[in-house]
Amino acid sequence: MTIEEAKKRLCLALDVDRLSDAKRLVEALRDRVTMFKIGFQLFTREGPEAVQAVLRLGGRVFLDLKYHDIPNTVANAAREAVNMGVYMFNVHASGGSEMMRAAVEGAAEQSQKNNAPMPVILAVTVLTSLNDKILTDELNVNNTLSHHVTHLAALAKASGLGGVVASSREITAIRKCCGRDFAILTPGIRPPWIKDADDQKRTATPADAIRLGADYIVVGRPILKADDPAAAADKILRDMAAL
Ligand code: C5P
Repeated sequence: MTIEEAKKRLCLALDVDRLSDAKRLVEALRDRVTMFKIGFQLFTREGPEAVQAVLRLGGRVFLDLKYHDIPNTVANAAREAVNMGVYMFNVHASGGSEMMRAAVEGAAEQSQKNNAPMPVILAVTVLTSLNDKILTDELNVNNTLSHHVTHLAALAKASGLGGVVASSREITAIRKCCGRDFAILTPGIRPPWIKDADDQKRTATPADAIRLGADYIVVGRPILKADDPAAAADKILRDMAAL
């Protein structure tokens, strides 16, 4: 993979709470990173202005708000995501197929109305903070975690979604059940030169995640906490490209 191809597949998690910090990061990294993830922290504080700021600076936005509600509400939220001009957003697959189809239909209708591109809609299958015990004892799911992940990924695909968020451990099984034409975006990335995994348990290096079949990798702290974030991003791009 070339460095230019790697840039298209690197997503930076803008896990900061101030718009000014987010803007500084986008300005410093926009030549290296194509897509910026805006999650609950930044969006709850700064709202749609955070999305507009990234777009104005030339970045793409992955709006990571994990919609999970009744179909009508999710369809309306999907329309607003389109109105904001996001490139990608996500929903919880456990909201069911009707909810996921409503997200697709809402987004498609609004895209057509706005004459704007249809966003990529991803599903969250099982949060990586859950484990087999929680799934069985608390959520009463009579399935192993890995089978439940692939079951929900297949449901997301059948409901018209474009892909899933998945840990490196789940990539192979999801590729097998959902095929090549289904985007996989993988967080929990820790470059080989970083010893501290923070709170991430199922980590992979950038190169490993790509080799396993991830289409996009999401990186937060290894870039955000680096003394020189641009240099850290360059090293990650080189790791992705050196396959
Ligand atoms: O800092 P770090 O690289 O661990 O950031 C990972 C980003 O990906 C965070 O924004 C986090 O919310 C998100 N994420 C994750 N693990 C998941 C799903 C999303 O770390 N399973």
